[in-house]
Amino acid sequence: MSEAALAERPATKTTTPQFSLKPLCFRLGEEVIGLDLTRCDDISDDTIKALWNTLCHRGILLFRKQHLNHDQHLAFTRRFGPLAKTGLTSRYAPDGYPDIFTVTNIRKNGERSETENAAQQWHTDQTFLEVPARASMLRCEIPPQNGGDTMFCSTHHIYEDLSEGLKKTLAPLRAFHTLFSQRSKVMAGRKPLSDEEMSRVYGEQGAMQPVVLTHPETGRKVLYINEQCVDHFDGWTVEESAPLLDYLYAQIRHPMYQYRHRWSAGDVVFWDNRCTQHYAPLDYDFANRDAPQNHRLMFRSTLA
Ligand code: SIN
Repeated sequence: MSEAALAERPATKTTTPQFSLKPLCFRLGEEVIGLDLTRCDDISDDTIKALWNTLCHRGILLFRKQHLNHDQHLAFTRRFGPLAKTGLTSRYAPDGYPDIFTVTNIRKNGERSETENAAQQWHTDQTFLEVPARASMLRCEIPPQNGGDTMFCSTHHIYEDLSEGLKKTLAPLRAFHTLFSQRSKVMAGRKPLSDEEMSRVYGEQGAMQPVVLTHPETGRKVLYINEQCVDHFDGWTVEESAPLLDYLYAQIRHPMYQYRHRWSAGDVVFWDNRCTQHYAPLDYDFANRDAPQNHRLMFRSTLA
């Protein structure tokens, strides 16, 4: 590992008695080796703190081949704090588990899944809420035979590489986030929200967020706009906002800031929503998604 990458990592230990770390790439991500998440009661509080600290600094943690069930998944998530509001995601919950969001292309009762392409735009989870989700944990039950990856980027590094002039322009700006933004594709093809879902989840139907967020735990600045949710800058029209947003989204799409995960059944990826974005590029035979070799079944929990 290079000196620069080492400098990125938390100032505390890189190894604890319970796990070791292996960088996933230069700018973000660590694979965590040596923990059995099916027995998360055996994981010490110090280890949980060290994992959280690593997550805040490195953006994502990968735990390979854990094969969690829903109870084990929720139990491990809860070690880091209370779960986020379920909102719309409870529509897609497995029976008996309202806090788990199912992302799949497998038909139910013959009907296509509304989440088969849920991550088709770069985003962080729930930025349309006043208090967005801190972190999310996605596990893979069935990956497609070829592809089905999820991509992640470091919005801290993207921000850092902007010019000082642009940073000054962005500093005072806020942006309006809503699932019903001009560019949002996430609601396309979904059944309309019931009144109850609408009021429970969206309230004002969106939230104003800073364009540059200071991560509350690392103190590092991050670019905090995303293509799925941002409609316009506060006080600017949609048309006025578009060119600057386009420029910033192009930075977010740059491969130098990304880690791309090829899933194996049982993998768990935990990400910090405050300093990363993610995107599922549909890099598999989506046209033939009803064929068993193209099935994709993932489950996500979300932290308040
Ligand atoms: C998500 O955005 O929660 C799902 C990501 C994926 O389908 O890979």
